[in-house]
Amino acid sequence: MAETPGSGLDFVFADVDKATRYKLLSGVIVPRPIAFVTTLNEDGVVNAAPYSFFNVFSDDPPLIVLGLQRKPDRTVKDTTRNIELTGEFVVNMVDEPLAAAMNDAAADFPPGISEPEVLGLALAPSNTTRVPRLAAAPFALECRKTMSLAFNASRELLIGEVTGLHARAGVLDTGTLRVDFAAYRPVGRLFGDLYTRQTEIFALKRRTPEEVLATRPNDTE
Ligand SMILES: Cc1cc2nc3c(=O)[nH]c(=O)nc-3n(C[C@H](O)[C@H](O)[C@H](O)COP(=O)(O)O)c2cc1C
Repeated sequence: MAETPGSGLDFVFADVDKATRYKLLSGVIVPRPIAFVTTLNEDGVVNAAPYSFFNVFSDDPPLIVLGLQRKPDRTVKDTTRNIELTGEFVVNMVDEPLAAAMNDAAADFPPGISEPEVLGLALAPSNTTRVPRLAAAPFALECRKTMSLAFNASRELLIGEVTGLHARAGVLDTGTLRVDFAAYRPVGRLFGDLYTRQTEIFALKRRTPEEVLATRPNDTE
């Protein structure tokens, strides 16, 4: 790390240890959406766990990405194992009422223990996957694994195709399909145990280059 007084801090990542890289990247790239992922194991037990190395990647094809880490002992997490087994999963989006259960589902329950059952989260059938969704979730994205990229022994990027979407009653306008953010109340992840609510919204209209230049004259002219 280099510090020039008054000029901020500079990091060359080749010289930065793993814990610091995590602290920087997960603290800086915020807020992150949270995928509360449900999967099925070979006995039909429903697993649920949160993943915030998550985002939409493309709408055509409709793809989402998940960053799956291994446990400290290098064994795979139940979510990873179940997706490998069945090729399917559901991303349940997290709102304020679901946040506490999402956090509890991150506890390292042994394989075969169903977090939805332990936490009293009701399930509902999906339309395009065998994996059920969380009934309380504002939105559920039904997904099938497209591919995964392993970067080292403990990091995998999983790409999933969205095959169906369920919206809870009231969160989408049935005519315009616009999201009602007051009804949705999404929660984002900051760093460590910190989260954020969607409290204020503002709009910025997209402008043409001519409109931008008309209101931002070049200083050198
Ligand atoms: C908000 C939040 C976000 C998380 N994001 C990730 C993530 O992106 N990748 C990951 O491997 N683990 C992540 N975790 C940790 C997993 O949820 C945790 O290891 C969990 O026990 C995995 O459960 P499973 O073995 O049932 O899949 C996150 C935890 C929390 C609370």
